[in-house]
Amino acid sequence: MRTILPFNDNWLYAPVQHDLRVPDSQFQAVTLPHTNVTLPYHNFDYTEYGFISTYRKRFNMPKEGKDRRVYIEFDAAMIACTVMLNGAKVGMNEGGYTPFRFDLTDHLKRGENVLQVELDSTERPDIPPNGYVVDYLMFGGIYRDVRLVVVDSTHVDTVFARPRDVLTAPKLSADIRLENVSRSDRAVSVRATLHEFRQRSNPQIAVQTTTALVPAQGALTATLHFDDLANIRLWTLDQPRLYSLDVEVYADDALIDTESTRFGFREASFKDDGFYLNGERIKLIGLNRHQTYPYIGAAAPARLQRKDADILKEELGVNIVRTSHYPQSPHFLDRCDEVGLLVLEEIPGWQTIGDADWKGISLRDVEAMITRDRNHPSIVLWGVRINESWDDEAFYTATNALAHKLDPTRQTGGIRNFLESQFLEDVFTYNDFSNTIVEPTHTPHLVTEHNGHMFPTKTFDNEERQVEHALRHLRVQDKQFGMANVTGAIGWCAFDYNTHRELGSGDRICYHGVMDIFRLPKFAAYVYESQIPAKVRPVLRAATFFTQGDRSEGGNDPLYVFSNCDALEVYVGDELHGKYTPARDLYPNIPNAPFVVTGLGLLAYWGHRYQELRLVGLLDGKPAAEQKISANELPCALTLTADDLELDADGSDMTRLVIKVTDRHGNRLPLAITAVMLEISGAGELVGENPFPLVGGQGAVYVRTADTPGTITVTARAPRLPSASVTITTS
Ligand code: GAL
Repeated sequence: MRTILPFNDNWLYAPVQHDLRVPDSQFQAVTLPHTNVTLPYHNFDYTEYGFISTYRKRFNMPKEGKDRRVYIEFDAAMIACTVMLNGAKVGMNEGGYTPFRFDLTDHLKRGENVLQVELDSTERPDIPPNGYVVDYLMFGGIYRDVRLVVVDSTHVDTVFARPRDVLTAPKLSADIRLENVSRSDRAVSVRATLHEFRQRSNPQIAVQTTTALVPAQGALTATLHFDDLANIRLWTLDQPRLYSLDVEVYADDALIDTESTRFGFREASFKDDGFYLNGERIKLIGLNRHQTYPYIGAAAPARLQRKDADILKEELGVNIVRTSHYPQSPHFLDRCDEVGLLVLEEIPGWQTIGDADWKGISLRDVEAMITRDRNHPSIVLWGVRINESWDDEAFYTATNALAHKLDPTRQTGGIRNFLESQFLEDVFTYNDFSNTIVEPTHTPHLVTEHNGHMFPTKTFDNEERQVEHALRHLRVQDKQFGMANVTGAIGWCAFDYNTHRELGSGDRICYHGVMDIFRLPKFAAYVYESQIPAKVRPVLRAATFFTQGDRSEGGNDPLYVFSNCDALEVYVGDELHGKYTPARDLYPNIPNAPFVVTGLGLLAYWGHRYQELRLVGLLDGKPAAEQKISANELPCALTLTADDLELDADGSDMTRLVIKVTDRHGNRLPLAITAVMLEISGAGELVGENPFPLVGGQGAVYVRTADTPGTITVTARAPRLPSASVTITTS
């Protein structure tokens, strides 16, 4: 049987190059995922994480390892590393976004072993995405999970579960690649069981078996077929049902390996007239996501990764995310599978193509990405071109051919920003910065970016700019919904992100998100959220702070209310100001057009008539959602909210603590620029700035658990406001 041993804890770390003779006392204890340096959320430079560091781990030969092979598997490390075991080199890796594994067996000894990783987190120009300027930061560290995998010398290398004919006569083919590192051929039998994937029990559906002779120091792929899967249920956006294929390998009647693969049954295809999921045409509306976070760079544990997928699906209501511009965390993709969020995943790169060796690494990225991720039902398109690079026929012919060979079930795209570029992929994926949608020159056509640098917007910009930011997203999305030859549009981008000095607003942030770097909404987020069907939940969000004198010339005219309700009543004080229907005349195509409220100009409301605003959204004539905004309210509450109240006491689990200063109805006050003092006690630590100066009246820090269970209490204080506390339990 295979044993998987988590290998995230008890590492030693030093932010310099150390050889084996340097004593442990020169290192600090850390748990993975780990950032090589903790940073502020802005105003720092890439040189602060661009250095060579050393990770060391002492461990005993696992008891399961006797007579078996022991591999170490890194989900990723940024950006190049050499791994040594007991002084011997076991391998090196170049590339910071894909997994790699090394066989430790021949260098393992009884008793204590010393593993040492020399990690180069400089911007190595020979490794994608580097080579020239890149509009994002890579950060450094062993920033994803690490594990030991203990297996027989003959074991499962990869499994590719390929559903077929899912709409007519569902079938499954499973390619099981078996590897034999021993010196003799091995006769095995393989048994694969198809299960429903459930949290508690996994009811069995069907079993198939075969036999194989796996050549010595070689590999062989056995393919098993499951036909007649008539009762299979499809993976859909509303009900993303998952299955698992559990493979067992036997030799001489003894079970020698097991491997479980989760996947789903769905048919996804981009056609000239739209994107089809399970035969149904769906307009794609999405956002790009960078994997970086404030303070911790890319070193976010599973819970934060999963939360991003939840934010995209539930708070922003999009149906597709692009993992710009690299393969992202397996935890994020797993969650996309679970919540029903489509994914366009692409290889690392940004505008630059390097030399032949660089391209070699990029081709390895294609292979590593697809081999790792082709069982995710959420992934519907591979991006196999360096984002916005120039044409390179030979290189991109090769990336496309490799993608199709590794995964004949999915189409490819290649993200470009010029219409004349050579079209070597299946889908013409285009970054469209025209502030509208250009007429496609090739189909299928998917817009993979819009907005972004065209209109950077901060949560502390004035209201007019924040409204215009929202309207720019609205106009582009409305336009694409009216074009049958455009499969969808993925906006730039979900969250503000850290970048280099050549890009962004000078403080090393690109303020391109519809949410800020803390994943808190700007008005533009409401354009997306309001497309959630009303039957899922009613949405009503006013794009205003409802002041009398902040907009040019004063007043609040016009006032946009993003909503999925079918009618709106507007009250100022107790007086009904007016009744509205969605502005279909202005936005004819998008599923839910906003309400445009007029007559709230300065002349009407200057002075005594300026009172509380109350918005009531109606569905079928009945009140379904309400928002109240105080009339120029002073700070009323300091709020502190944890995304999770129960965490794992593993030394790496984290949750976000959102801090806001609000009016009496819970609306953030964007000009509440106050320093919030935080105090923490108990089984965890704060990650973030303390005191924390609010950004647009809001912001966030994180809590990381200790490796002993207990409770964590955090208290926030700000001048002139009651303090706020939150208590988290860890186990
Ligand atoms: C694109 C690029 C993105 C981001 C964006 C900003 O050209 O692909 O990574 O830089 O511009 O709008």
